[in-house]
Amino acid sequence: MRSSESGRCSGSYDVVGLGFGPANLALAIALEEHQRPVTAAFFERQTTLGWHRDMLLPSAKMQVAFMKDLATFRNPTSRFSFVSYLHAKERLARFVNRQDFFPTRREFHDYLQWAESAFTDRVTYGAEAIALRLPPRADPAAPVDHVYVDVREAGSGGAVSTVAARNVVISTGLVPRMPVGIERDQRVWHSSEFLGRFGTCDRAALRRVAVVGAGQSAAEVVRFLYDTLPGAAVYAILPSYGYSIAENTPFANEVFDASAIDDFHGGSQRAKDAIWRYHRNTNYSVVDDEVINDLYQRAYDDEVSGNRRLEFINLSRVTGVKDIGDSTQVTVHSLASDQAAEFTVDLVVFATGYDAMAPGDLLGDLDAYCARDQDGSYVVERDYRLATSTPLNCGLYVQGGTEHTHGLSSSLLSNVAVRGGEIADSIVERLPRETDSTSGGPAALSSRP
Ligand code: FDA
Ligand code: NAP
Repeated sequence: MRSSESGRCSGSYDVVGLGFGPANLALAIALEEHQRPVTAAFFERQTTLGWHRDMLLPSAKMQVAFMKDLATFRNPTSRFSFVSYLHAKERLARFVNRQDFFPTRREFHDYLQWAESAFTDRVTYGAEAIALRLPPRADPAAPVDHVYVDVREAGSGGAVSTVAARNVVISTGLVPRMPVGIERDQRVWHSSEFLGRFGTCDRAALRRVAVVGAGQSAAEVVRFLYDTLPGAAVYAILPSYGYSIAENTPFANEVFDASAIDDFHGGSQRAKDAIWRYHRNTNYSVVDDEVINDLYQRAYDDEVSGNRRLEFINLSRVTGVKDIGDSTQVTVHSLASDQAAEFTVDLVVFATGYDAMAPGDLLGDLDAYCARDQDGSYVVERDYRLATSTPLNCGLYVQGGTEHTHGLSSSLLSNVAVRGGEIADSIVERLPRETDSTSGGPAALSSRP
């Protein structure tokens, strides 16, 4: 990327992608495999590709079948499929011998890195997108075909650079959520930072640890802490009576099919509400049966051995934490007794979920040109383009933050291959016949023969 201290733009691209997680990686592959060449650059704030690295727990498995990879559902012959990866790694036969559709998260991470290695020339790492803005214009009513994207690069001492983009695809991912009024500190963590912090903490000091939440993250962290800290008491604080199973049966799974997005996007508000109500349990506040059974077995084994160190505090929500010197006091409100109780721990992990991607933080000046619905949410077209008003002519696309328009797969991997292809098609269709983009910085995508 060319630096631009004066705020002028230096590179210009058909597509600029913000964030380089699986969503924009799938888009990069779709653009690479498109018949018409386009210029593209991606900016990622991490220093390398990392897919929820701090939750890559040793036995954690994927929650989506391996074929819902970066490419297969769009192009089954893609060289970027999970099967191609297995073949390249000489593990195809043994993967199949496992007779399990679900790889570990660690293996899928390795697959993502393998795919990413073909795109390093067009990604700038350690580069955080700060804001989009309108380029200076002599005539404010003239159509705007490019927007400016300001990016702060850690590598150049935090200098801000600017690139111009005909299309911007914002794919910056989920945002960790803490309960209102609770702040992180040295003993109060969110699950999204778990392994990084666990790796550097004093494990011997962890005698009483608590995990808050009843979703997949909570259950996996409870299992990990129980197994890794054999001398510690582990408290699982659940808002529900017990962990509920993630609905993963065939009919319910159809809610993640590409065709379900047409039904959702074109459906009435009542239909959307019904899909959400009936099928929320495919993803939120639910846990895979394998992890549930593992935890139950551990609790049962404790009873058999007479050494009970895994305790479930159910029907309870954490309402506060207080640093009391060398430990933390956690306030737990029980729905059963309607009473609050306090207890002291050496660590509390809030596996309290994530907020959806909110593109407004990046849209800056451009937010004023983006249409909103009656609830104040962005209007998102079927092709994932934000509906914008004149004079904005360029494309602002989002991958994430579209549960209200595209349904439950919005933040998930289920549809990344197809969605990347749909966005690539939309971008290419809207380009002028002869693109005048100039490349610079992260390499332009190569021309297809
Ligand atoms: P993702 O969050 O992966 O990537 C966004 C990227 O944008 C990040 O690399 C981030 O650093 C970068 N970024 C953010 N702000 C930026 C900025 N301002 N400038 C530049 N870069 C910026 N889903 C599923 O279908 N199956 C599964 O098995 C799982 N497993 C899973 C495990 C865990 C622990 C979590 C928390 C979530 C899942 N998910 C999941 C859901 C998850 O959202 C999904 O797997 C992908 O991460 C979505 O990919 P994205 O690229 O949209 O976001
Ligand atoms: P989640 O499903 O949103 O669960 C958050 C949990 O925290 C809910 O049970 C919520 O209860 C609870 N909670 C919130 N505030 C609380 C409070 N103050 N006190 C007690 N409990 C509280 O979040 P998640 O488990 O992080 O999962 C998020 C996404 O990541 C999902 O898509 C999931 O599938 C995915 N994930 C995947 C893997 C994997 O692939 N192996 C691993 C982890 C996560 P309420 O709902 O009642 O508020």
